[in-house]
Amino acid sequence: MRILSGIQPSGALHLGNYFGMMRPAIELQEKGEAFYFIADYHSMTSLFDAAERRNNTMDVALDFLACGLDPKKSVFFRQSDVPEVTELSWLLSTVTPMGMLERATSYKDKIARGIAPMHGLFAYPVLMAADILIYDSNVVPVGRDQKQHLEMTRDIAIKFNEQYGQTFVIPEPQIRDEVAVVPGTDGQKMSKSYGNTIEIFGEEKATRKKIMGITMDSRTPAEPKPDAEKNLAVQLLRLVATPAVGKEFEDKLRAGGLGYGDLKKALFESYWNYFAEARKKRAELAANPAYVNQVLTDGAVKARALAKQVLKRARKASGLE
Ligand code: TRP
Repeated sequence: MRILSGIQPSGALHLGNYFGMMRPAIELQEKGEAFYFIADYHSMTSLFDAAERRNNTMDVALDFLACGLDPKKSVFFRQSDVPEVTELSWLLSTVTPMGMLERATSYKDKIARGIAPMHGLFAYPVLMAADILIYDSNVVPVGRDQKQHLEMTRDIAIKFNEQYGQTFVIPEPQIRDEVAVVPGTDGQKMSKSYGNTIEIFGEEKATRKKIMGITMDSRTPAEPKPDAEKNLAVQLLRLVATPAVGKEFEDKLRAGGLGYGDLKKALFESYWNYFAEARKKRAELAANPAYVNQVLTDGAVKARALAKQVLKRARKASGLE
């Protein structure tokens, strides 16, 4: 079984990235042949600063390795170190209906938020399909927000196969329901574009402040809260605390008597402990950028060898060779 996923180097990674995509991906590296990459080509649709892209790419590599991605088990690489993917993207674009891209909610959302539409943004799902199909991927662990992109990938692969004969493996998305949506500090989905994130490796004081600032209602501590399971801090606590601690705080909140401040303090403590080991590992890795670069370079060699084979198959099927 080949597992593949990608993550954009768009800034500090947050709990939404971690629980939605990174942790499932890290768990899956035990279950098959895992390919994970940093989607730097994709980041060009929303990030226009070269130095920032370079720094973010290193940061994502550090974050992922610190959180448990094991380069002995997984192939870890930069998307752009396998330029074959852009050629495949072209081949796929010739069987991709305009209507399909026009219906992409992630594209429509970005336009609605005022991002200037450009061809790269519109073609984003085609490049993503190429990312997935070029490694004969079977399983793609992603957050819920990527579900439609996966459906498009499948449709594009089916179309190409119909047109040119069996060429691509049809991939399956893997979306974990329990962690598919991690709430941000304002209750919307946690997302960098909403400014409501809690970083995985945020600085202590700033992160404490963010957690203490999570939106709550105005009910007094004494009041029982029958909807305790909907409380944002409880939901986040359930992700970073043991099930017993999560339940304890939820029950206390439901019964009444627990103040929101104390709940958030507990959340901060659990969060800080949850990532304590990874934080140490990250500091060690950050002191050794040559090692991190070597991991990515080695990964690219392996990824590229496979990508070349699959691209050749597509070139032959379509009569380019
Ligand atoms: N679009 C994904 C995101 O924003 C990143 C991505 C690019 C990806 N290519 C991919 C994810 C291929 C899975 C498979 O999170």
